[in-house]
Amino acid sequence: MTEPTATVGILGGGQLGRMLALAGVPLGIRCVVIEPTPGAPAGAVAEVLTASYDDQRALEQLARRCDVVTIEVEHVPIDSLAWLAARVPVHPSPEVVAVAQDRLAEKRRFVALGIETAPFAAPEELDAGYEAGTIVKRRTGGFDGRGQARLGPHASRSALAAAATSFGGRCVAEGVVSFDRELSVVAARGLDGTAACYPLVENRHRDGILRETVAPAPDASASMLAEGAAMVCRLADDLDLVGVLALELFQVGERLMANELAPRVHNSGHWTIEGAATSQFEQHLRAVTGLPLGEVGPIWPSAMVNVIGVEPEPARALSVPGAHLHRYGKAARPDRKIGHVTVTGRDERERDERLAAVRAIIG
Ligand SMILES: Nc1ncnc2c1ncn2[C@@H]1O[C@H](COP(=O)(O)OP(=O)(O)O)[C@@H](O)[C@H]1O
Ligand SMILES: [Mg+2]
Repeated sequence: MTEPTATVGILGGGQLGRMLALAGVPLGIRCVVIEPTPGAPAGAVAEVLTASYDDQRALEQLARRCDVVTIEVEHVPIDSLAWLAARVPVHPSPEVVAVAQDRLAEKRRFVALGIETAPFAAPEELDAGYEAGTIVKRRTGGFDGRGQARLGPHASRSALAAAATSFGGRCVAEGVVSFDRELSVVAARGLDGTAACYPLVENRHRDGILRETVAPAPDASASMLAEGAAMVCRLADDLDLVGVLALELFQVGERLMANELAPRVHNSGHWTIEGAATSQFEQHLRAVTGLPLGEVGPIWPSAMVNVIGVEPEPARALSVPGAHLHRYGKAARPDRKIGHVTVTGRDERERDERLAAVRAIIG
């Protein structure tokens, strides 16, 4: 057997770990995953150590066998990452993951870098909620809109406190932003500090869950595209991040406001598998293993639709020209992301027609 190009350890074996490991195969990159849940998606393409993220024996295996360790989810114990980082390169670093785990630390970082964000404070610091309404969010651990409560204008101190208590106390309160739309930008930064940035994309959510990504974002002005790229690169440099970084944004008029960051491959970057010259998954592996980053363009007009709760008939989904089906091998459950479909088109009109056809099938 030939030697692998590199062996990469991944904390987390969900769909992101699976798509990372899959992207490693042509590069000769082997992935070893720690994942607590048996039968997780990454098992199809990676060696999975079924263990909790703080299992000492599993961590020792990763440190011994891997050239570098990365994550597919930011909610992993910092102590485990720090233990690994004392023995093997870890990208993103434990310090960066600690920022990404804490919505308050994240927003303070935005402010420190001059990046606009929604008004925010710890709920106990506020005499009253914001005029436009307040969202109380769990500082750590929320995802897909879970761990959030929306309060009306000028919420009382007791309403803020009650919302925070319902999430165990450690929360951030944010003013509601009446945005025109949601966008995101994904970039990768290599070991030598070079960066490659995908264009801004538009994200459409329902009930706090991402439903569709349209790439590149329709009708984005040149100045907004440049601003999105500048923001994510400024953050990546400031965090000295190695790997992929995603930044979720609100567009208000021509302004961009940062919502949250993720120092990892991101759902709004799945379109890059078929829509960009190098996928975010390959790009992340290249970055963390010290390989040159790939070109991001040329870019096809693309759209990604998440499969949530119910699987489509594969033949039906693929009956749409330009459609590609990704099944994660997860049991179907309401509100659970179990796959996605990407469509590309030669131009935006064709892409939009195909997107409408996919949407009709997936619902
Ligand atoms: N300050 C805000 N103003 C308006 N909408 C918001 C705000 N914060 C979050 N949302 C809405 O809730 C969704 C989920 O919130 P987010 O902070 O991104 O948490 P999650 O980690 O669950 O994705 C966002 O995509 C957006 O639609
Ligand atoms: Mg989000």
